[in-house]
Amino acid sequence: MADRRLGIILNGATGRMGTTQHLRNLMEIRREGGLLLSNGDRLMPDVILTGRSPEKLEALVLANDVLGWTENLDRALGDPGNDIFFDCSVTGYRAPLAKRAIAAGKHVYLEKPMAPDLDTALELTRLATQRGVKHGVIQDKVHLPGLMKLRMLRDAGFFGRILSVKIEFGWWVFDGIFQPSQRSSWNYRKAEGGGVALDMYAHWRYIVDRVVAPVTRILCRTAIHTPKRRDERGVDYDVDADDAAYGMLELEGGILATVSTSWATRLRRDDMLTIHIDGTHGSAVAGLHHCRTQALVNTPKPPWNADHPQPMNFYDQWQSVPDNIAYPPSFRACWDGFLRHVAEDAPFVPTFLEGAKAVQLAELAYQSDRESRWIDVPPLRP
Ligand SMILES: NC(=O)c1ccc[n+]([C@@H]2O[C@H](COP(=O)([O-])OP(=O)(O)OC[C@H]3O[C@@H](n4cnc5c(N)ncnc54)[C@H](O)[C@@H]3O)[C@@H](O)[C@H]2O)c1
Repeated sequence: MADRRLGIILNGATGRMGTTQHLRNLMEIRREGGLLLSNGDRLMPDVILTGRSPEKLEALVLANDVLGWTENLDRALGDPGNDIFFDCSVTGYRAPLAKRAIAAGKHVYLEKPMAPDLDTALELTRLATQRGVKHGVIQDKVHLPGLMKLRMLRDAGFFGRILSVKIEFGWWVFDGIFQPSQRSSWNYRKAEGGGVALDMYAHWRYIVDRVVAPVTRILCRTAIHTPKRRDERGVDYDVDADDAAYGMLELEGGILATVSTSWATRLRRDDMLTIHIDGTHGSAVAGLHHCRTQALVNTPKPPWNADHPQPMNFYDQWQSVPDNIAYPPSFRACWDGFLRHVAEDAPFVPTFLEGAKAVQLAELAYQSDRESRWIDVPPLRP
């Protein structure tokens, strides 16, 4: 069986996601001797880094098995040895880079959200289709073990008729004044693609569509809870992008979902993201890895007695879904899927059109906020 190579331009490798997920997983594929394709060939990704910070890029090149780095994206795009352009840099600057890559005839893979607005996302979809390049958007969360277990429960009919869903996401992000912030300042600046609703409704769309049922309507209220922050250079700035979004979704079949998304909340729940599904025959709560169930027949009847403390510990009344399957790391699953799609035309779900649907829901969340009303989610055509 043959070895094949695929050249990948990785833009934004010095960022949090770039270093901890994308570069790391591509290096893991290299360490394994390449990705095993269906015909037995091994596909070896050759990675070149592009970005703005020579010292940081140089440090990554020294620490990793990559070809090198360049600040000159056009030169990298002009090199016929590079097959794929991948961007995981700042959201607000992504679309123009993707357009240049499509024009250069590269296959294009993007972090979510693929664009700051729906028109731009659909334009990218059209351009990529016309140019005949393969395209995709990261949809990592559906590969998390907790969410894979939820999907298995739904497909096995565990829930009966699904009634409602509760998504709770978030934690406290420091303001950079009292303690250093865990998120870069661009996240809080609208012009750079900031805003937690844009960031997270891009996830909620595919999670809800694929794990529960397709979204049909949305109601959302966003907030800026922390209006002043200090950036990476120690300069104070006014926040103009939302740091929390409180939403409701209606799904096919009349299922109702409440979605709490906040970088201004403190954790007291099973995980940083939890998804709770209630159905006629059973309920389940998933975090990133674990998933716990309570069937109708195992449902206790807690006493309501305002005069005495609650005798039951509700956390003890759930059963863990066992780890019978070895799930690959979620971002690794994303890369394996896109590389197979490019190398052997394997079917691939999260194309640009799916990425555009994610941006659509975020855009409708902001529209609902501005207009204080429920908004229908219309079907999307490229
Ligand atoms: N799939 C997921 O679960 C997930 C999670 C977090 C972030 N993301 C997405 O990944 C992207 C990067 O997020 P991150 O948290 O890694 O960001 P980050 O701030 O840690 O990294 C940003 C990267 O972009 C580069 N960059 C290019 N132009 C820049 C500019 N003008 N200003 C600042 N940085 C610039 C930086 O050098 C750095 O490499 C975002 O689009 C975000 O929405 C996805």
